[in-house]
Formats: sequence, C-alpha cells, structure tokens
Amino acid sequence: MNLGAFALFLALIVGASGQYYDDYEFPISMYGASSPNCAPECNCPADYPSAMYCDELKLKSVPMVPPGIKYLYLRNNQIDHIDEKAFENVTDLQWLILDYNLLENSKIKGKTFSRLKQLKKLHINHNNLTESVGPLPKSLEDLQLTHNKITKLGSFDGLVNLTFVNLQHNQLKEEAVSAAFKGLKSLEYLDLSFNQMTKLPSGLPTSILTLYLDNNKISNIPDEYFKRFTGLQYLRLSHNELADSGVPGNSFNVSSLVELDLSYNKLKSIPTVNENLENYYLEVNELEKFDVKSFCRILGPLSYSKMKHLRLDGNRITQTNLPPDMYECLRVAKDITIN
Ligand SMILES: *[C@@H]1O[C@H](CO)[C@@H](O)[C@H](O)[C@H]1NC(C)=O
Ligand SMILES: *[C@@H]1O[C@H](CO)[C@@H](O)[C@H](O)[C@H]1NC(C)=O
Ligand SMILES: *[C@@H]1O[C@H](CO)[C@@H](O)[C@H](O)[C@H]1NC(C)=O
Ligand SMILES: *[C@@H]1O[C@H](CO)[C@@H](O)[C@H](O)[C@H]1NC(C)=O
Repeated sequence: MNLGAFALFLALIVGASGQYYDDYEFPISMYGASSPNCAPECNCPADYPSAMYCDELKLKSVPMVPPGIKYLYLRNNQIDHIDEKAFENVTDLQWLILDYNLLENSKIKGKTFSRLKQLKKLHINHNNLTESVGPLPKSLEDLQLTHNKITKLGSFDGLVNLTFVNLQHNQLKEEAVSAAFKGLKSLEYLDLSFNQMTKLPSGLPTSILTLYLDNNKISNIPDEYFKRFTGLQYLRLSHNELADSGVPGNSFNVSSLVELDLSYNKLKSIPTVNENLENYYLEVNELEKFDVKSFCRILGPLSYSKMKHLRLDGNRITQTNLPPDMYECLRVAKDITIN
C-alpha cells in the first residue's frame, strides 16, 4: 500500500468503527527518517520508519521503544501502567497515542511525560484517568484526555505552545476548570463538552477561537463574559439550562463570532447577536417571538445581518410570527428552518 492509501485506510477503519475520530494523518517529516529497529510485536512501516504501530495487541505494558521512533501508537490495548523508564530511549518522541487503554493516574510514574522534550501530541482518550496527567513538557501542542473520569486538572502553566485541548466526556465542574488554564498564551481550541459545569469557568485564556461547552448544566452567563475573547469564532452551548433570565442582553454580541449553537436550552426570546454571525442554532428552545432587533440594530443599505443558516425549529415560532422586515435584515440567508 502506498502512503496515501494507507492513511485513507486508517481514516476509514477509525471512522467506520464509530470510535473517536481524529486526524492521524502522517506528518511530512517522515520522509528521509532513518530506519530504526522495531519492537518485534509492533509494526514500523518501511516508508514511515519513525512511526511504530502497536495497536490492538492486548499489550499490558508499553513495549520496548527503540531510538529513532518519533510517532508511537499504542491504541486499543490493556496498558494499565507506564514505568518511568518506558520512553528512556526515545526522549525525542513527538506523538504519543494511548487511546483505549486502562491507564489510571497512580500508575503513570513520575516525570514520564515531562522528559519528552519534543512531545507535541499526547492522546490518552478512553482510559481510566481521574485527573489530568503531568507534569507535561513545554513543547506540548495537542492534549486529548476525552472519555475518562477526570474531576481534577493540574496546572497547565508554562505550556506556551499548547493550542488544542480536548476534555470532553469527563466529570469536570467549573471550579476544577477555572484555575487550570490561566497563563496559556496559545490556546485556540478548548472542548469541555459533556462535563458537569453549572457555571462558565473563569480564567480561560483570551486567545481561544473555538470553545465547546455543550452538554453541561450551565444556567447563566456573567455579563460581558465572552467579550474578553476577542477572536472567538465558534461557540457551542447547546444542551445546557439557559433561560432568558440567565442571559444578559449583550452576552453574544461578539463581533468575531461566526457560529453560535444555543440549541436545546430553555430560551423564550432570541439572544441578540452581532451582524457578523453566519450560523445560529436555536432549535428546541421555548422561543415565542421573533424580533428583528435580535439580528439587526438598524436596517439600511449597508446594515444587515451576514446570517447564512438559522435554525428555529422545535420552538413555538411559526411562519406567521415572522415580521415582514425580516428579509431586509436577513437578506443573505441561505436557509431559515422553522416549524
Ligand atoms: C533502552 O536501550 C537499552 C540499550 O539498548 C536497553 O537495554 C533498554 O532495555 C532500553 N529501554 C527500554 C525501556 O526500551
Ligand atoms: C476502567 O474502565 C473500564 C471501562 O470504563 C471499566 O470496565 C473498569 O472497571 C475500569 N477499571 C478500573 C480499575 O477502574
Ligand atoms: C514553541 O513553538 C515554536 C514554533 O514552533 C518553537 O520554535 C518553540 O521552540 C516551541 N517552544 C517550546 C518550549 O517547545
Ligand atoms: C454590540 O456591540 C457593539 C460593539 O461591539 C455595539 O456598538 C452595539 O451597540 C452592541 N449591540 C447592541 C444591540 O447593544
């Protein structure tokens, strides 16, 4: 199989099995890497010799990892511990993928990860963690700890390059989240969906562009909360407990916002958004009225909403509630879904 076909094949099996999907595409730097030895039970593709695949081998511990390996895949095993010396011969490891194992925090020893000074990706999705892992190396860019039982987060202080953090499907409350992310300068993507937050966490870095908080129990939004995130583009708060009384007037009037998902809440009126918003999901709320002012402060030749997709189905609004001047405001809308 050539490389492209192999990557596609991998994407297909991961996708088709309905498991957690991620972009495990091959990095460019693999060409020209020297060919190391491979652990006998694992597979190091000839055209991708710096990667070692040890997926689905019923491994109970990390196998011998020879020097030269930079991308290590250990998915779908029964690994329940990591010794401090497990990666002693590959301190330049860049990707470490440990999804679908049985790891607990108490069985990951000492500075296992912080010694890996080149580590960029660390994925420990679908394990038995109750806390985040650490200490972590300052080189880390992408941390994924989804589908664990995490209630506590350590500090991510000093992880200057940490850009992408996925913590969905854990048991985090807002207090646990509030302190953890302070000081991160590069964080752009944060997924905290499917957790147990009743409030929005404080102290999230203002660099965030994508923030997923859906499927929590959030009932109110502090005034101006989202104003601090001056580049925020994608915000999901669906499947929470938001009602009108918990949403101050300008909560979502954020000019950088492109997509806002407030579906499956208890809103009776449409929160005001900025004219720049393009996708607005409000299905399955308790909306009773449609006010053009929610989308356009004033109407005029140059003043209109950039809205492309608007979902209002599963509410009490019907076609007859829609005011005639709506189309003047929502003049570039491609579809408006309504009961
Ligand atoms: C590291 O390499 C040394 C020398 O080849 C070897 O004895 C040791 O078992 C290796 N350690 C691991 C954890 O693979
Ligand atoms: C680890 O998680 C699996 C699956 O969620 C569960 O069956 C098992 O009991 C857990 N083991 C421990 C030691 O918590
Ligand atoms: C952070 O990323 C930059 C750009 O890729 C790199 O030059 C720098 O060494 C990284 N910092 C750390 C601590 O790894
Ligand atoms: C939305 O915010 C802008 C400033 O970013 C402000 O000029 C505008 O009046 C606000 N919209 C509403 C409806 O208050």
